[in-house]
Amino acid sequence: MLSRRVAKLKPSATLTITAKAKDLRSKGVDVIGFGAGEPDLDTPDFIKEACEKALKEGKTKYAPSAGIPELREAIAEKLLKENGVEYKPSEIVVSTGSKMVLFLILTAVLDEGDEVLIPSPYWVTYPEQVTILGGVPVEIPLSEEEGFILRAGLVERYVTERTKVLILNSPNNPTGAVYPEEELRRIAELCVERNILIVSDECYEKFVYEGRHVSVASFSEEVKSITFTVNSFSKTFSMTGWRVGYVACPEKFAKVIANLNSQTVSNVTTFAQYGALEALKNPEADRFVEKMVSEFRRRRERALDLISSLPGVSVVRPGGSFYLFPNFSVYSKEVGGDVRLAEVLIEEGRVACVPGSAFGVEGYLRISYALPIERLIEGINRIKDVLDRLR
Ligand SMILES: Cc1ncc(COP(=O)(O)O)c(C=O)c1O
Repeated sequence: MLSRRVAKLKPSATLTITAKAKDLRSKGVDVIGFGAGEPDLDTPDFIKEACEKALKEGKTKYAPSAGIPELREAIAEKLLKENGVEYKPSEIVVSTGSKMVLFLILTAVLDEGDEVLIPSPYWVTYPEQVTILGGVPVEIPLSEEEGFILRAGLVERYVTERTKVLILNSPNNPTGAVYPEEELRRIAELCVERNILIVSDECYEKFVYEGRHVSVASFSEEVKSITFTVNSFSKTFSMTGWRVGYVACPEKFAKVIANLNSQTVSNVTTFAQYGALEALKNPEADRFVEKMVSEFRRRRERALDLISSLPGVSVVRPGGSFYLFPNFSVYSKEVGGDVRLAEVLIEEGRVACVPGSAFGVEGYLRISYALPIERLIEGINRIKDVLDRLR
């Protein structure tokens, strides 16, 4: 009785592995979790306090579907100041995390059979959402040798009559790649020429250690007119459980997305939006982000050193996010695939990693370094012990 669209729907592999690690931990097993897609720090107190204040003031009722006006204004200011793109508040829609935002964008633009270009490795959710909506995910394979950077020439090879959308995610999950500005400009030009919409998922914009994050919508009015700039409070302010994300796009799309919001989630939890507003307004927020990112930088260096010294394992030195995506194919071939390798690591090494096949490529493991540095070191040492036994 299930619909054809959901027949092949998979649960999020990243959430599954995190749940498995939590389950083992509840049984007293000391598992080191490399699966986390969220910063390990708590949400800053000033954000929590703003939310508490909103609760006390009775901000507990339905709110406008596109988001409270103050928040949409603050987002417009942020986009101008930090990303160099001018949006009106009426071009911004707030929804329950960027995951829902992406779903609403795709709902707004996809017809049955429309193709969506997705550079692979990809964040697990993109192809699933496209499939649920009757679209066709078209993977653009990226290579480790090229640092998992997307090139305009490669995109062009996958464009067909049915191509409707290209999803960009830089800084990237799972590879950490930060696409160079010149390449993004070429890709954006191609999309303008070929009438392809760009969904630019920028939720890791603050996690950049080498290179620079640029918003494609800042390139020109033409590019802006075909772009959905997607962002989230989840990673930047360690607010993953609050479920606040947003899109900025031309008003004709924003109106439809707000309508979809009103017919699905109604609005983001009203008092959570006041917390998000504080995150954009409070000057302490910059310091919080800076401190967090400098800690991630330290972890990344250490993790890169340790992982690149594992025999038979290669790893790209990526510019951003908080993931590494090393190639363990020598070992995954040995045990019958990366899913099995991840199982062996959790069973024998008590380390939880997400297998690369969840992100579209076999033989890799995604390692999140969103955990204290001592645990990070201990975890990689545990991986080393398991690999030594496999060799
Ligand atoms: C690339 C990417 N986009 C979007 C999201 C969704 O974040 P949220 O729905 O919490 O805003 C994630 C979360 O892991 C992600 O990695």
